[in-house]
Amino acid sequence: VDLETTIAGVRRRVAAWRAAGERIAFVPTMGNLHRGHLRLMEWARERAGRVVASIFVNPLQFGPGEDFERYPRTLEADAQQLRAQGIDLLFAPAEQELYPRGREGMTRVEVPSLSELLCGASRPGHFTGVATVVAKLFNIVQPDLALLGEKDYQQLLVIRRLVADLNLPVAVEGVPTVREADGLAMSSRNAYLDSAARAVAPRLYRTLCEMAERLQGGPVGYSELERWGMERLREAGFEPEYVAILRAADLDAPAPGERPLVILAAARLGAARLIDNHIVPHKK
Ligand code: PAF
Repeated sequence: VDLETTIAGVRRRVAAWRAAGERIAFVPTMGNLHRGHLRLMEWARERAGRVVASIFVNPLQFGPGEDFERYPRTLEADAQQLRAQGIDLLFAPAEQELYPRGREGMTRVEVPSLSELLCGASRPGHFTGVATVVAKLFNIVQPDLALLGEKDYQQLLVIRRLVADLNLPVAVEGVPTVREADGLAMSSRNAYLDSAARAVAPRLYRTLCEMAERLQGGPVGYSELERWGMERLREAGFEPEYVAILRAADLDAPAPGERPLVILAAARLGAARLIDNHIVPHKK
């Protein structure tokens, strides 16, 4: 994989591919690549002749006291994995390249309402930071297609809305979550779990699956089931932040019996804050 650290360098490379009529897929990441990211790269590979990945731990999307400083940075190992996957270009800019005038007075892209719910409620400004850096990255790389993980479901919807509202010429595709054998969703933040917490962590997804089974099993009130999920997580040793059953398309409140739904949860466990989700599809 070729490493580019400058915007001008990326633009030059991509312009040459575009002039040759090639289709370009883009996978934005914060690095510390795991199998979930590699699945995104594979999907990108299958869909386009050229694949660009980016690695940038974006300070704009971390709040005060969050894990910006300790977020794992493993550029060398990441570049090796991307090379093995046949990725064409890795854009790994320094902060100065993306925010040359500093972050303070930076123009921001705000996606209202969707950004304020769920993770947005406990991480104010987080999705504005995500939307801003993703808009910049899309403008720098100018891909035909961008791949994002469904693990960060709310983020995926925020980015879809950003692209629709600003008419960005990029198709956004969500890629299903890759899980460990015991169901835990792959995440760089799993590294914060000690062995006791790691043993409990799969209960998050299991609880979401149990909730989905109850929903499919017969009529049950959404709020009652959300409370049940919160309680299950507390019993398992989590400090749940939210458990929510919402309309999959836009995270609005669903009508009784409506499908598809998404069940989402965020919970603290030891030193980690974990999120996960589960789609409840149309009834067969
Ligand atoms: O999901 C991530 O890794 C980040 O939020 C993203 C989309 C790369 C923006 O910084």
